[in-house]
Amino acid sequence: MQESVLALENISKTFPGVKALQGVQLTLRAGEVHALLGENGAGKSTLVKVMTGAMRKDEGTGRMCFDGKDRDFTSPSEAQKAGISTVYQEVNLLPNLSVAQNLFLGHEPKRFALIQHSRMQQQARELLKQFKLDIDVTAPLNQFSVAVQQLIAIARGVAMKAKVLVLDEPTASLDKDEVETLFGVMEQLKSEGVAIVFISHFLDQVYRISDRITVLRNGQFIGEYITAELPRPKLIEAMLGKELQAMHGQHQPGCADSVDAPALFKMDKVCVKNSIENMDILVPKGQAIGMAGLLGSGRTEVCRAIFGVDSVASGQMQLADAPLKPQSPAEAIKAGVALCPEDRKTDGIIGPLSIRENIALALQARLGWWRYLSKAKQQALADKYIEELQIATPDAEKPIGQLSGGNQQKVILARWLATQPQLLVLDEPTRGIDIGAHAEILNLIKRLCHDGMSLLVTSSELEELVAFANKVVVLRDRRKVSELSGEDMTPQHIMQAIAEA
Ligand SMILES: Nc1ncnc2c1ncn2[C@@H]1O[C@H](COP(=O)(O)OP(=O)(O)OP(=O)(O)O)[C@@H](O)[C@H]1O
Ligand SMILES: [Mg+2]
Repeated sequence: MQESVLALENISKTFPGVKALQGVQLTLRAGEVHALLGENGAGKSTLVKVMTGAMRKDEGTGRMCFDGKDRDFTSPSEAQKAGISTVYQEVNLLPNLSVAQNLFLGHEPKRFALIQHSRMQQQARELLKQFKLDIDVTAPLNQFSVAVQQLIAIARGVAMKAKVLVLDEPTASLDKDEVETLFGVMEQLKSEGVAIVFISHFLDQVYRISDRITVLRNGQFIGEYITAELPRPKLIEAMLGKELQAMHGQHQPGCADSVDAPALFKMDKVCVKNSIENMDILVPKGQAIGMAGLLGSGRTEVCRAIFGVDSVASGQMQLADAPLKPQSPAEAIKAGVALCPEDRKTDGIIGPLSIRENIALALQARLGWWRYLSKAKQQALADKYIEELQIATPDAEKPIGQLSGGNQQKVILARWLATQPQLLVLDEPTRGIDIGAHAEILNLIKRLCHDGMSLLVTSSELEELVAFANKVVVLRDRRKVSELSGEDMTPQHIMQAIAEA
């Protein structure tokens, strides 16, 4: 058997009220991509944090052997120095510093203790070339999209020349080409003997890139498998502890198929400066309209215009027969619109507040602060959604920052559902959530339509889009290029519409 670079044995980590890890093991070999899989809250990120010194394991349990020696890192920088480079799920870069500074923070090229800026910039450009990024490395990081920032975080991890590279959901905000580029870089590192830990909820990607798979469930080690020998249904069974068949609803448009349902929301020739052009979108009452298009096609811009984030330069919007002209999200919320944003890390989560407070937030804004929601009412609301969306937490008082990534996503969704909007806009609602919760979200969308809510939903997962949408609009270059419904609404047709030049 090939030597392992890193072996974790019997690792446990307890938080108040939660056993996040219970006797977990993980073995990494040089030159392999090892996928670490499991549902939201299974313990993946916690294992990564314990392994890399960002968190301490429970006193007196387990051991870790790295590079032939027993180790127990007390900080990420110690792990880093030893040769473990990590890109955490929560991208922790410094938004106001330049791209180059972010890439080399803490290990800047120096001469006589002085940072050599031009050399650093040159190295930064070369590093980013691997990722096919040709950007101004002196510009502040926050000028770039989430996807670019994600790639920069990964490039930073790669630049460290480590023996082990850990990537916790690196592809969550990347498009197809960016994923391919990343995989190219991973293959290269692999051939140089680097061991890579890859965490993802995209099983296609797992099968594409990984050699072996370790599955966790409820903080426990379930098994280690060779990817090529593990059929997908078996993998899902290992992750969920039950068969998928039982969970998936019928794959057909779930909402009442009344084609002539009255329009609830209308966007009529809407233009936004430097953004969308002549956009027409119609969402009937009780229906879900899907929005497809590549990153940068205008999907997010449409959502922002509806929610009053960007102001409409010309054209009109209507909601329930009244003009909709929100000048701010607060006005949009009052009018009965809700937007669950794509990037929950920057747009949604208030880490130190409890789940209860995070859920109550938008409803409180809708009611106005003089109609204060009592703690009991907030509690009831939180309990309702914890139950309905199966948010994994011991109670509603836990700070949201302590939930797993996917469960945070569900809390944000609950926040917007609680406002009982007439129009609910969901920007990539299933990103970062596990395959079990995917099915739950799809069923939820159908249920909401059935109860009379109207939804506009963007998703890059075309299979998913056609499973719940009554109609799909396709955007390209910030314009609408196609509308598909009925038998024409297939992933293939959508792809064609997206791709046609
Ligand atoms: N700092 C913390 N304090 C308290 N509980 C925590 C903390 N961090 C994680 N947990 C809990 O530990 C469990 C495992 O969380 P973890 O983040 O490791 O899950 P995950 O497998 O990475 O999930 P996801 O796919 O959603 O990212 C969860 O129940 C979570 O609520
Ligand atoms: Mg995680």
